[in-house]
Amino acid sequence: MLRTATHDTSIVTVEFDTGAKARFHAIWLRDNALDPETRAPGNGQRLITIGDIPANVSVSAAEVVNGDLSVTFQPESKTVTFPAVWLADHVYDRDQTLQAGRIAPGITTWERGIDAPSSDWTEVHTNQTTKRSWLAAVAEFGFAKLTGGPTEPESLLKVADLFGYVRETNYGPYFEVRTEVNPTNLAYTGLGLQAHTDNPYRDPVPTLQILYCLENSAEGGDSIVVDGFRAAEKLREQNPDGFALLAGYPARFEYKGSDGVCLRSRRPMIELSPDGELIGIRFNNRSSAPFVDVPFDQMEAYYAAYRQLGDIIDDPAMGVSFKLESGESFIVDNTRILHARLGYSGAGSRWLQGCYADKDGLLSTLAAMEMAQPEAAE
Ligand code: FE2
Repeated sequence: MLRTATHDTSIVTVEFDTGAKARFHAIWLRDNALDPETRAPGNGQRLITIGDIPANVSVSAAEVVNGDLSVTFQPESKTVTFPAVWLADHVYDRDQTLQAGRIAPGITTWERGIDAPSSDWTEVHTNQTTKRSWLAAVAEFGFAKLTGGPTEPESLLKVADLFGYVRETNYGPYFEVRTEVNPTNLAYTGLGLQAHTDNPYRDPVPTLQILYCLENSAEGGDSIVVDGFRAAEKLREQNPDGFALLAGYPARFEYKGSDGVCLRSRRPMIELSPDGELIGIRFNNRSSAPFVDVPFDQMEAYYAAYRQLGDIIDDPAMGVSFKLESGESFIVDNTRILHARLGYSGAGSRWLQGCYADKDGLLSTLAAMEMAQPEAAE
């Protein structure tokens, strides 16, 4: 509910019943009008362009009607109602924290010692609450396990079906991770792999990866996940200038390990939104290309920061490790979480299948479930 509304020609100021006040600009309110000529009633999509709004838009009246805000815009002489709840949800007249490298709301960073979020295969397929908490774990922690699944090949595709679609690449809809005699990629050998994000040479990168275990009787081969956002936070604390270098200049990544494929990207190792929110990590020693976008007199400092970030990532205190059994899988947010594996020996066998999928689809499924069942929120 609103208590009061005052205005001049370009700004409306409202006071909520909580006592909080907020200002809204005339152009902002007109652009966001909720009437059926501005927003399609069915799908909520905007029907007007910015050019359809008169450049000299102004407010000629603003008053509280039944607790909501009624505004009349000129020169259209158009009166629109804005529900108080809607206004409260869309306040932008507030102190915005703009610290570079800040973590978005809803994300919890972690190190070794947390319990790996884990759900049961049958439960996520039959119980909406379990499915929702599994999706929510990926959103908050960037990874989650699934246990008790089938051991047939291609079962990983059913994991993607839970929230969206497989993202097919030149590796196919999915790829096999087991020892090959002449591997096209080091992932297909028994070597240990440093923690990395996958495919930084793509733009955009695959935002989710699913790794599904079908056999794992080999010695070793444990999976390790590291929170790249926590690593970035640590680098920022230890070496703010180095953090700024890794965030401020593009790295280069490249993959041309098979015929007809030459993937290249020019993106930073630490990616920030324009207002400083941490939105992505790219870290992969195997596919880093020569860095040529860092100024000459900054290159040594850039490398020092790169080394420092690598040391943080390699620190055993950072990683959560587990050994997947057959029928178990995990999903990682590939824009945030690095994954690694210990080396494994030729004794026994290790067979995983991997695929990519899109995080926007997962977050969409989660948000739609939260909207449909807000009372189930934790
Ligand atoms: Fe990988």
